Amino acid sequence: MEEHLYQFKYKMLSLSELDKQDQALILSAIKSREQAYAPYSSFWVGAALLLSNGVVITGNNQENAAYPSGLCAERTALFYAKANYPKEKILKIAICGDNSSAPQGEITTPCGNCRQALLEYECTQGSPITVFCASTQGKVLEIDSIKNLLPFCFELLYKPS
Ligand code: THU
Repeated sequence: MEEHLYQFKYKMLSLSELDKQDQALILSAIKSREQAYAPYSSFWVGAALLLSNGVVITGNNQENAAYPSGLCAERTALFYAKANYPKEKILKIAICGDNSSAPQGEITTPCGNCRQALLEYECTQGSPITVFCASTQGKVLEIDSIKNLLPFCFELLYKPS
């Protein structure tokens, strides 16, 4: 029998400790959250992606009366980004979620489906995606790779060159 330890480093920061570009990305996610369509959960989430060409893409959760037909903020932004900028790498993603009626100031981390979707692009682009999970009050969790959000992840067998 072998026992292994899986560890990774993450940072807890306040918004003001980050550089201006990262702050702007996080503020874009917080702002995008305001346009979420979440009448069923009242949980509003915003996401902002920084692409390698400097473009920032935002998205928010879009719900539906047939619940599974909706989509999380992260994948709304991610799929728009890859649909319109297929050649650009995703450098960073900022996420902010909060309950619209009773903000708790808590951090929202991506759901399992979004982690898997993000992982696909991290693997195919061959470079890590930095994740910022922020509260509306500016508390920030920074993680340096999607792989750290999915230990023993399912990776592609087919890797485009
Ligand atoms: N949601 C996101 O947009 N991102 C996540 O990572 C977690 C959950 C959305 C889906 C649904 O519209 C609402 O939050 C409640 O689950």
